[in-house]
Formats: sequence, structure tokens, C-alpha cells
Amino acid sequence: MSRRLPRRTFLGLAGGAGVLAAAGIAAPRLLAQGAPGTGELLRSGLPLPEPYRVPLPIPPILRPQRTADADHYTITQRTATAEILPGVRTPIWGYEGIFPGPTIESRRDRTVVAHHRNELPVPTVVHLHGGHTPAESDGYPTDLVLPRSGWSAAHAGHGMVDARARISNGERDYVFPLRQRAATLWYHDHRMDFTGPAVYRGLAGFHLVRDDEEDALGLPSGERELPLMIADRSFDEHGEFAYPSLDRSLRTTPGVESAYVEGVFGDVILVNGAPWPVHEVAATRYRLRLLNGSNARRYDLALDPPPPGGGGFVQIGADQGLLDAPRAHDHLPIAPAERYDVVVDFGRYPVGTEVTLVNRLGTGSTAQVMRFVVARRAADDSRVPAKLSEIPPLTREQATTTRDFSFRAGAVHGRSGWVIGGEPFSPDLMSASPRLGDTEIWRFVADIHHPVHLHLVGFRILSRGGRPPGPFDGGIKDTVDLAPGESVEVIARFDGYRGRYVFHCHNAEHEDMAMMTNFEVV
Ligand code: C2O
Ligand code: CU
Ligand code: CU
Repeated sequence: MSRRLPRRTFLGLAGGAGVLAAAGIAAPRLLAQGAPGTGELLRSGLPLPEPYRVPLPIPPILRPQRTADADHYTITQRTATAEILPGVRTPIWGYEGIFPGPTIESRRDRTVVAHHRNELPVPTVVHLHGGHTPAESDGYPTDLVLPRSGWSAAHAGHGMVDARARISNGERDYVFPLRQRAATLWYHDHRMDFTGPAVYRGLAGFHLVRDDEEDALGLPSGERELPLMIADRSFDEHGEFAYPSLDRSLRTTPGVESAYVEGVFGDVILVNGAPWPVHEVAATRYRLRLLNGSNARRYDLALDPPPPGGGGFVQIGADQGLLDAPRAHDHLPIAPAERYDVVVDFGRYPVGTEVTLVNRLGTGSTAQVMRFVVARRAADDSRVPAKLSEIPPLTREQATTTRDFSFRAGAVHGRSGWVIGGEPFSPDLMSASPRLGDTEIWRFVADIHHPVHLHLVGFRILSRGGRPPGPFDGGIKDTVDLAPGESVEVIARFDGYRGRYVFHCHNAEHEDMAMMTNFEVV
């Protein structure tokens, strides 16, 4: 593979993590607030296709093999080839050989047993993002599933040994009890040091949890409910995914070339694995489950044209399920791993309108995401009730502990990387030990953009930048985006399961370059 020289994407402000670390300061790059976040554009080495030519793919729903005691699935992780750009064959790593992986649909409180077989050349780890999952099935970054074809210990990381790791050979079961509200979850690879490139190659899929409360609302459903995984990628001149790994085999040396330490941006925007797709809709309400599956890129999504009167996105849910009441937005800022559940009423547009989902943080090819064509009138018996759900209050008074964590550039084993509380990731560094059932306030502060994600728990945003939560901070979240220099307070109850979990930055390059740490529910 070869690549063009990287080009600075915004204002030449990106001095690089090393500069920040060397200066020993967190230079808040406030001018970068309106930029697509933290990262460096990697340009594709082949001509990009015209947008809005490829139909929107909908990932297939995976069928369970057995449904007696629990829903049992088997998923094989394997290499495959996909036609992502028209006429170009791209090697991928996929769950069941497809990207995105198949969608799993579950019911609240009904256990899923996912049997994963690893036919890839490297170890993998499966994490159900947003899942309220026992620690042994949460996809701890060292709980490796070794390749079925074998794996030599000589390949093991940079000398880090985790005595608590649960290693399996070739395959294992993940058990998800799903004692949680209906929500848009997703599953993706989570191997220590190599999550970014593995997800980039395709290891990500939707896992939707449904429940009776949500079913009773009468929201748009069936063909009018669309999961949309938005992810940027670049392609080399041979049509392979381009990614600046230091070790292309993903075996020993983690991290990316120094120009990309802040994050890898692609110049092709994929939705459900298709470049700038197009989708015909009826002039009715649609439910869009938006997921930012990108490694580093943030988007600010908007409808172009907006519907008359504005408020085109009616948000009904956040990362962890329904809001208490719908909220109308003209745009939606979305950081890696965040989800929005929104209803768009295409009946507000005349038949024939082309409605483009645009990215207000992009330029050129990255300013567009996909297009809807309002093709026909149709009956619409869906509703968006004024009251959606009950969100039990969680107030400051309930918190027993407040903890502070800084997310900054820092030295990682002699290289530039990213640290939490000054420390790079280590499996045995315990940064917090909440007691089971306790409610805690966690305060995060960031040098540059960092989307912070907690495993196990959903949280509420209590404050942002010392002010009340913003218009996009409603509902229950599991990932919160911090702007440069910003602080955010979240509150969560640590219930359900004891054990060791991680929290980390979901900029996948930051995550792989050590911006992760542990908490243990005791
Ligand atoms: Cu979406 Cu710890 O991951
Ligand atoms: Cu997660
Ligand atoms: Cu980060």
C-alpha cells in the first residue's frame, strides 16, 4: 500500500500530540471547535465515485439458531471481499464476512448468547457497546479470542501481561442478559492496542434492543425504521482500505504513523458500508437510528433542504434509549460511538424532493453523507407521542463520590500518545472502585476533542463547561463528547454486575494509543 502525503485539514493548528506533551500543557485548541475534531485526513489513492448512486444497504438481521432458554447466535469473524466503491474490490474483516456485520435484534430481559468464531489472522475481542453486560462477557481488551488457525505467544503485544485475562482458543460464547431499556447498541472489536484498525477493516455491527414500552408508542417501524452506521474510510490505489498502522499485520506494534496520532480521517463517507448512498422514501415519518461508527471523525448532521419551519430531526432517543419527551433539532453533532434515535417526517417535503443528509463539519467529499428521495405519497399511521418514556431522576444528592479524570496528550512508553489522569492504559491500573449500587459523579476535562465512553453504565450529563447540559445532552448516554478545553460532569449508578470494566476515549486512535483505564465495581 502507498499513500499520498497527508495534508493538514484545519488551520494548521494541529501541532501533534508530541508537541503538546513536550510543552507539558494542554493547549485548548478552541479554534478547532468547529472542525471535525481531532485527526488528520488520509486521502484515497483512487478516484472517488459520484455521490448518491449506490443504494443504501440495510444490514441483514441475523437469525438465532436456537431460542429456547436464550437467543443463541453463531457469528464467524472472517476475511472477505466487498464491493464498496463501484467496480472496486476491497478486502474486509467482517462479522459473518460482511461490513457492517449482521444486525442482532433482541428483546429487553431476554438473554442473548453470541458464539463467536475467530477465523481472522489475529486475536479479537467482542464488545457490545452500550450493553449492561457481566464483566466476563464485556469484551475486556485482553480477553482475547485467539485465531482458530493458531497464534504464537511471541506475537503478544508490547510485553504487557494481564494475569486476569480470559483467553479462549478460536471461539467463545458471550452472554448478554440485556436487562436494560430498548436502545440502539452496537458490537465491535475491542482488542487492546488494535481496535482502530480492526474496526476500520469492518468489525462493527448493530445490536438493537426492543421492549414493550417502545412498541406501544407507535413509532415508524418496518421499512420505515433505518439503522444508519456512518463511518469514514479511505482507499489506497488498489482499492484496499488505507490505514496508517505502524504494523500492518496488527500483530505486535500498536499505533499509527505520527502524522495520524490525533486520529485518522477518511475522505469517503460510508453509510451501512456504502459510499454516499441514496434511499427512496415515502412522504411519511421515518425512524433513523444514527450511529457514528467512525474512528475519529465527528459530524454535524443536517437536512438539506431543511423542511419548512425547521426542526427536521425530532430526537426520540439517545445512546441508551428513549428520551422522556421528543426534542426537535435543526442539526445533530455526533462524535464517534454516539447514537441518536430520530424521526424525520418526509411528509413535510413535496414528492420529488431530494433531501441530502449533510455534514456541516465536512468539506468537499466529507460534507455529504447520503440522500433521501421523497418518491411517493403513502398512508402514515405512525406517531411520535409527546411523552415517550420515564427517566428516573438521578440527582447530585444521590452521589456518594465525585471523581476527576483528565483526558490529555501524554507520553506512552516513550512515544506520543494519550493518557487519562496522566497514566497510559494498563490492565492493572485501577482508576476507580465504585461500590455496587452506588451513584457517583465523574468529572472529565479534555485538552482537545475526546468522546469519553463508559462501559457497563448509562449516565446523565449534569453539566457541560460549568453550565447546564446542552440541547444534545438529553436522555441517558454512554458516550459524551468533550470539546477542547471543556469539562463535563456525568452521574451514573454502578449497578447490576461487579467486576473490572474499562472506560476510554472512543476516538479509536486515542484508545489504541493508551487513552483507556479501568474501574472495578466492588
Ligand atoms: Cu464502543 Cu469500549 O467501546
Ligand atoms: Cu462500550
Ligand atoms: Cu480522545
